[in-house]
Amino acid sequence: MYADRVLSGMRPTGRLHLGHYHGVLKNWLTLQNEYQCLFFVADWHALTTHYDTPQLIHDNTWDMVVDWLAAGVDPSQATLFLQSRVIEHAELHLLLSMITPLGWLERVPTYKDQQEKLTDKDLSTYGFLGYPLLQSADILIYRANRVPVGEDQVPHIEFTREICRRFNHLFGREPGFEDKARQAVKKLGSKKAKVYEECRTAYQEQGDEEALDTARALLSDAQNLSLGDKERLFGYLEGSSKMILVEPESLLTAASKMPGLDGQKMSKSYNNTISLREDAESVAKKIRTMPTDPARVRRSDPGNPEKCPVWQFHLVYSDADVRHWVVNGCTSAGIGCLECKQPVIDAVLKELAPIAERAAHYEANLDLVRNIIADGCEKAQELARETMRDVREAMGLGY
Ligand code: TRP
Ligand code: SF4
Repeated sequence: MYADRVLSGMRPTGRLHLGHYHGVLKNWLTLQNEYQCLFFVADWHALTTHYDTPQLIHDNTWDMVVDWLAAGVDPSQATLFLQSRVIEHAELHLLLSMITPLGWLERVPTYKDQQEKLTDKDLSTYGFLGYPLLQSADILIYRANRVPVGEDQVPHIEFTREICRRFNHLFGREPGFEDKARQAVKKLGSKKAKVYEECRTAYQEQGDEEALDTARALLSDAQNLSLGDKERLFGYLEGSSKMILVEPESLLTAASKMPGLDGQKMSKSYNNTISLREDAESVAKKIRTMPTDPARVRRSDPGNPEKCPVWQFHLVYSDADVRHWVVNGCTSAGIGCLECKQPVIDAVLKELAPIAERAAHYEANLDLVRNIIADGCEKAQELARETMRDVREAMGLGY
């Protein structure tokens, strides 16, 4: 019904590093060739957790856009914009909040998790509780049907699907649709009508896909229904005859294999990152000082790559030959650790070189970056406005 459209957002809470590159950005680069893509800076999302450091958001927003462009995100293919410049997101968030049960928000797993994890912050705010709904608005406002996310964000997409269904159920009906649909249910005969109603409830209230299938099969087999009634009942199952908002699907992004310099996940908070715009000298130094298998105290001590963070880098960057050389050389003490690190240094520098080049270009032309974003915001806003017209009208606000 609508063309495939991809949407993804990123919070501007720090400089991007190789973890982001391997985990998210390389995926965006593929997607931008295959789909209509919208990528945005989730600055309002950042405020839900970082409301006490606005300067941080301000500084990182432009840096992040430069990082995207440096990584190869192509503004002639994808639309890049800032969430807060498309204020329709806020309007949809507000309108959706009218129909969002509190319990659904409280049950989103990240809600309690994050509150427990980020103990240095007071996250008992209205904004933080509502953040998954803001994300739903981000997605639904573009009728984006594909959302690339990591495992941890899948519940947010599920939540968005439920909100979407509830919205279409409540506001997507033709005049008199409900009465007509109810009449049609009766025509099924009491036994089938009962099954249909049960399945419909199970699907709409719990998202029970099996129940949906059962009800669809029942309708397909029904002999004594007019075509019109059949179509109504298919629509009524999902809640609407008119699909105002589109249910998104997760495009699960494989977890990045990119480790940090110390072998843990690469993350700003562990201080183990190589940033996308790290200069060559610093890259080399960081890798040269990486910890290795502690068993290799002296050059003559053999080691085990499985116990060494450098090996994890080889798994990302090195081909079979080099890996073979590492395993042999390490376990026999045939090579030293500095020697072992050199191919990694070379590979990371090779990967970062074109990124640095593009970054320099954009850093020197910040007006260009601002124009790219201004264009993107305009395009995004046009799409958002289209949806909002339908949403307002459906909710009785089409004055
Ligand atoms: N919640 C995401 C994060 O914290 C960012 C985000 C906001 C997002 N809105 C989105 C991602 C919509 C995908 C789609 O990383
Ligand atoms: Fe790690 Fe390589 Fe040293 Fe072995 S030789 S401990 S794999 S850095």
